[in-house]
Amino acid sequence: MYSEKVMDHFQNPRNVGEIEHASGVGTVGNAKCGDIMRIYLDIDENQVIRDAKFKTFGCGAAIATSSMATELVKGKTVQEALAITNKAVMEALDGLPPVKVHCSLLAEEAIHASLWDYAQKNHITIEGLEEPKKDIHEEEELPE
Ligand code: FES
Repeated sequence: MYSEKVMDHFQNPRNVGEIEHASGVGTVGNAKCGDIMRIYLDIDENQVIRDAKFKTFGCGAAIATSSMATELVKGKTVQEALAITNKAVMEALDGLPPVKVHCSLLAEEAIHASLWDYAQKNHITIEGLEEPKKDIHEEEELPE
């Protein structure tokens, strides 16, 4: 039911850990399943993401999507990172079962939350970035 890539990123997650003095840290959760994801970003003066790490208390798919999301944002500008959707994370993992799609939403929102924190700390606005929700559970209930 899981792709090889999902299994690989679950069993050998990339970028696990914390970044001390991170440029941005974002934490989001889903009250329904109880999973929590935190993403740390190290962003240079040109707004390029030098490094990304994560800590996830959650299911296997949440671990795999955090791992892939942090891989995808590395080397990207904040604008490019903002454009990474949960679909892109899922595609990079060769798909997720339908009941696990919400886990990838957690990854998308955790990226947004860390970018939001970065913007707040630096008193800047990232075009197109809205204040992220701490709990994505409501969003999930909306129809596609
Ligand atoms: Fe909720 Fe995976 S089951 S994030």
